[in-house]
Amino acid sequence: MSARAAAGRPKPAAPLVLVSNRGPVTFHEDGEVRRGTGGLVTALTGLASHREAVWIASAMSEHDIEVADANGGGSFAVRAPGGGEYRVRFVASDPEAYDRFYNVFANPMLWFIQHYLWDLSNAPDIRREEVEAFEFGYNAVNEDLAAAVIEEIAELAQPVVMVHDYHLYTLPRMVREARPDAFLHHFVHIPWTQPDAWRVLPSRITEEIFAGVLSNDIVGFHTRSYRRNFLQCCRDLMDLEVDFEAGVVSFDGREVWVRAYPLPIDHVATARIAEGERVGQLEGELLRRRRDFLILRVDRADLSKNVLRGFSAFDMFLEQHPEFVERVTFMAQLMPSRTDVPQYAEYLERIEALVAVVNHRHGTPDWMPIQLKLRDDLEEAMAAYRHYDVLLVNAMFDGMNLVAKEGPIVNVRDGVCILSENTGAHEELSEHALSVNPFDIQELANSIHAALSMPAAERARRAAGLRAIVTSRDPGDWIDDQLADIAAKRAGGR
Ligand code: G6P
Repeated sequence: MSARAAAGRPKPAAPLVLVSNRGPVTFHEDGEVRRGTGGLVTALTGLASHREAVWIASAMSEHDIEVADANGGGSFAVRAPGGGEYRVRFVASDPEAYDRFYNVFANPMLWFIQHYLWDLSNAPDIRREEVEAFEFGYNAVNEDLAAAVIEEIAELAQPVVMVHDYHLYTLPRMVREARPDAFLHHFVHIPWTQPDAWRVLPSRITEEIFAGVLSNDIVGFHTRSYRRNFLQCCRDLMDLEVDFEAGVVSFDGREVWVRAYPLPIDHVATARIAEGERVGQLEGELLRRRRDFLILRVDRADLSKNVLRGFSAFDMFLEQHPEFVERVTFMAQLMPSRTDVPQYAEYLERIEALVAVVNHRHGTPDWMPIQLKLRDDLEEAMAAYRHYDVLLVNAMFDGMNLVAKEGPIVNVRDGVCILSENTGAHEELSEHALSVNPFDIQELANSIHAALSMPAAERARRAAGLRAIVTSRDPGDWIDDQLADIAAKRAGGR
């Protein structure tokens, strides 16, 4: 959100209280401050620095804990890399509880359910370990964060608490019990899957999760389809009264509104980062080495992102179109993620192995078809965004996918976006992207060919279309829509 746009917006009376697992920054050795990664942090960073807000999050490193202790466990101001100042409050949970919360229950259990990632004939096995991870890990961390929220809102009349994501489904009920007057708004940044996907969980756990989420006043999703799935779950799994048209669930004598708020990116800030000095240097290096065409993907190394099928499709494309040999590079910048979860560690190994196979099969002494960069470097991603001919976003399922929005803002070559129809971004961008079924490798290979052979005028038309949509809104609008609904619900509307 631009400062100018933010200045024109009415400020809510009391400070907003945001709560999420990952906060905007993590502290490292020698006081180094790094920005948190992922869509959630990207979404909320502008909001927290432009509104009066306190952002409560889990301490992620031992240095975060030290900083939290130095501030007596309360909130403190932090200047983030890339600009912006936030009030942050870090909450340190017991390490064993946190491990069960993060590495067993939230990831993979919930994440896999909410991206249809379980290979059901093999996994998951629900044993004591998983059930206890919910009771003594997930719920324990939710309790710790809830306690911080309750303390933070102690002096506020009718506070507004904005809860974020799948890590915190049971927190709202805890806050609701302590503060029935609080307005609780929960935004889920990942897909909400259809009822049967939830049936892997023991019903007692499912019921606790839904009772938690339905303790909010408003529940928000990125798309209309996740909203519909959630409503269907409330009816089919919980046997609740649901008004699909209005998006209202009756629970515990209250009405819960269920809404879709597609998240825009902060396109002004994105463009500013892309203008940075180091980005310019990295662009120079990239241009010196570039072939005729550059295909790019930028993702967390997450199973939902469908990295392997992307490489298989590239392999097939080179097989079927040998005229492109030595003329195209596929650059994959993947940030290692959740590496203590066995499925993620194994995924990284599979990625490296497949890259080796494809490079061996098609490479020549002075050409490596796939360039794999396993690191988290925003500026390097920006330099590559500038010069791609094809941006590949082929996630199997993805809540929104912000790469599909960032790339077109930064790119200067009228690059084509290949976009999975199962991303949240597809609801907004499909008209100007090349849509693909993420499981159809041949279709993806064909799309790579279509994108690389597309006439310049069509590329320009599509790129302009994408830019127009992405720049039409910013995260300030997103939050304003949510605040407007909060005001409407408070006023007794429907
Ligand atoms: C997604 C989730 C976020 C999460 C992020 C990074 O964007 O919606 O809640 O923070 O991925 O994942 P991590 O496990 O590193 O926090």
